[in-house]
Amino acid sequence: MSLLKVYKGSDFDIEIDNIASDKSISHRSAIFSLLSDKPSKIRNYLKAEDTINTLSIIKSLGADISMSNDELLIVPPKKLLEPANILDCGNSGTAMRLFCGFLSSKLGFFVLHGDRYLASRPMKRVTNPLREIGASIDGREDGNLSPLCIRGSNALEGFEYESKIASAQVKSAMILAALNAKDNSTYIEPYLSRDHSEKMLKAMGANILSMIQDDGKNKIYIKPLKKSLEPLDIDIPSDPSSAFFFAVAAAISKNSTTVLKNILLNPTRIEAFEILKKMGADIEYIIKDEKYEKIGDIIVKSSPLRGINIDKNIAWLIDELPALSIAMAVAKGKSRVKNAKELRVKESDRISSVVKALKACGIEVREYEDGYEIVGGKIKGAKVDSFGDHRIAMSFAIAGLSDGMIVSDIDCIKTSFPNFLDILKKITRIEVAD
Ligand code: S3P
Repeated sequence: MSLLKVYKGSDFDIEIDNIASDKSISHRSAIFSLLSDKPSKIRNYLKAEDTINTLSIIKSLGADISMSNDELLIVPPKKLLEPANILDCGNSGTAMRLFCGFLSSKLGFFVLHGDRYLASRPMKRVTNPLREIGASIDGREDGNLSPLCIRGSNALEGFEYESKIASAQVKSAMILAALNAKDNSTYIEPYLSRDHSEKMLKAMGANILSMIQDDGKNKIYIKPLKKSLEPLDIDIPSDPSSAFFFAVAAAISKNSTTVLKNILLNPTRIEAFEILKKMGADIEYIIKDEKYEKIGDIIVKSSPLRGINIDKNIAWLIDELPALSIAMAVAKGKSRVKNAKELRVKESDRISSVVKALKACGIEVREYEDGYEIVGGKIKGAKVDSFGDHRIAMSFAIAGLSDGMIVSDIDCIKTSFPNFLDILKKITRIEVAD
C-alpha cells in the first residue's frame, strides 16, 4: 500500500503525448474482437491492470494474443472455450458487466469475479434484465454481488428494455446479449451515455440503429448477428478521463499551460473540459482525426475559476467529478453537484471519498445523498486516503500542487493510468514510499 508525497507546485508549461490510452475503448476492442472470425489489429491498447485482466479473460476464452511493435493481434477462437478457471475482472466494473452480457449469450459455464472493491458493486443492473430474457446467472445477494456464475445460452429472447440509469456498461452488456438473441431487441436509456459500443459495433458491421427521441431518451434497435463481424483495425486514442487530471493541474496553477495530445474527443467524454471552461479555464480543441471517433489535442491554460452548479448529464462526467471537485475547491464562490447518486457505487463511494478528503484539506463541503456543495477556498496540504479508488488518488495528487499532499494507498492508480506519476514528476516534486 504505497504512499505518495506531492510537493507544492509552481507554474509549468508542458506538452503531454503519453496520456494513458482510453480504457473504455480498450476493454471493448478486446471483447468485440471475439465477435469476428478474423484477427483484429489494435494499436495503443491500454496496458493497465484493468485492461490487461480483460486480455487474460479473452485468452482463457480461447483467443490467441500476440504483440509486435505496439500492435496487438487478437485471433479469435473458432469456438469459445469453456474456461476451467474463474475469470478475474480485478477492479473493473466495465469488464464484469460487459462480460456478463457477452457470456450470458454464449454456450458454457463461466464464473466472473473481482477484487474486494468490485465484489461490493451492484450487478443487479445487468443480471436482472439479462435474467428476464432467459439468462441463467447467480451470485451473492440474489445475483447482485459477484462472483457471478453464468450458464450461458444461445437462446436468449429479444427484448424491449428501458433502463432507469444512463449507464454505458448496462447498455453495452444488453447490446452484447442482443447480438446473440433469437429476435430483434430495443434498448432505451434516459439519455445518451458514452456510445463507444454502438459506434464500434456498427463499424464492424452490426445492425444497430440509435435514435435520440423528442423527450431526450436514447432508443437503440439491435438485430441479432447473422454472421461474424468484420475485425477491428483501430488506433486507440488517449483517455480524456485520464487527461483531465492534467487539465485540472493547469487550471488550478498560476500561469500554466498543458497541451494534451491525441485525446478522444467523443462529446459524451469531454463534458468535464466543457464544465472547466464554463468555470473560467481557457480551453481549446484541435481536431486531428475522425475514424471510429473524433480525436485531437486539448490545450488548457490557467485563469481564475468561478463556482458552478451541475445537475445534468451526470453520466458524461461521472469519472471526472472527483478531479472537477479539486477545481471547485479553488474556484471563487460555491459549486454544487446534484443528481449524482451513481457516484456512490463507483470504485469507491465517491461522494463520501471526495467530501472526506476535501474536509481534510480545510475546504468547506456539504454532503448530499446525491452530491455535494463545495465552498471554494484554499486547499491546504493534508494526508488523505484514496479509498482504493484510482480517480480519488489521482485527483488529490493534483490537489497537492496547491500546498503539498500525502495520498495513501496509491497502488490503485495502476488500474487505469500506470504512467501518471511519471508525468506528474515533470510538473512537481514527488516521493513514493511503501
Ligand atoms: C464505462 C462506463 C461508466 C464509467 C466507467 C467506464 C464504460 O460506468 O464510469 O468508468 O466503459 O462503459 P457506468 O456505465 O456505470 O456509468
